[in-house]
Amino acid sequence: MSLLEVSGLEAGYETGQILFGIDLAIEEGEAVGLLGRNGAGKTTTMRAIMGADLPRIIDGSIRYRDAELLDRKSYDRADQGISFVPEERQLFPRLTVTENVHIAASAAEDPLPAEEMFDLFPELDEMRDRHAKNMSGGEQQMLAIARALVSNPDLMLLDEPCEGLAPQIVERLEDVVTRINDERGVTVLIVEQNVATAMAVADRHYILDEGRIVEEVTTDRLREDDELRQRHLGV
Ligand SMILES: Nc1ncnc2c1ncn2[C@@H]1O[C@H](COP(=O)(O)OP(=O)(O)O)[C@@H](O)[C@H]1O
Ligand SMILES: [Mg+2]
Repeated sequence: MSLLEVSGLEAGYETGQILFGIDLAIEEGEAVGLLGRNGAGKTTTMRAIMGADLPRIIDGSIRYRDAELLDRKSYDRADQGISFVPEERQLFPRLTVTENVHIAASAAEDPLPAEEMFDLFPELDEMRDRHAKNMSGGEQQMLAIARALVSNPDLMLLDEPCEGLAPQIVERLEDVVTRINDERGVTVLIVEQNVATAMAVADRHYILDEGRIVEEVTTDRLREDDELRQRHLGV
């Protein structure tokens, strides 16, 4: 039994269908990439899994620990151990680092101690009292990841965590996500347009093109196959 199994998922918005039969499975402990060009449907897939920003579900199933998720509320999915770091981060801008972490912890069923977040992110430790709105993009992204992690998830969904960030920060975030997966055993599904980041973090990848999974590849194959990257990712 896979930790997460998406089968035949057809979904979209009021304006039209975006996903046309998505099949993917993630085993416990894996780190998996979900790749594809802008507009391919990556974020819509994440939202369908998390039950957030409600895409319209047309057909299919999303099973987590062998139970159907689609009829559950987003907070129920969070209680079951799924946490989502959305593209737009959705921090509380007027709250401090500590407050953002504590709010997430207090909303969780079985949170980790906040101090563990500050051990994992020494950068945040040094700015506990800073308001989120006064942090750099990279610092905000670390806070968004810390906030998702403090709820003690089994599965973490990350939507383009490195988008628009400087190379040193990207490297730092790759390291953090790898540690969350390797050392803490959190299963990771990471969406990236930056293929190098996806390859640094994940062992295998699904490639999404116009709402369909067109390839499932290992990192080694993705690295070697220039034509494949060019065809589906344009890089
Ligand atoms: N809230 C929404 N309402 C209507 N259409 C949307 C919404 N969000 C995304 N879309 C559309 O769905 C398609 C896929 O978007 P998205 O899943 O965000 O792609 P990706 O994350 O791969 O860039 C795009 O054509 C986008 O314009
Ligand atoms: Mg997106």
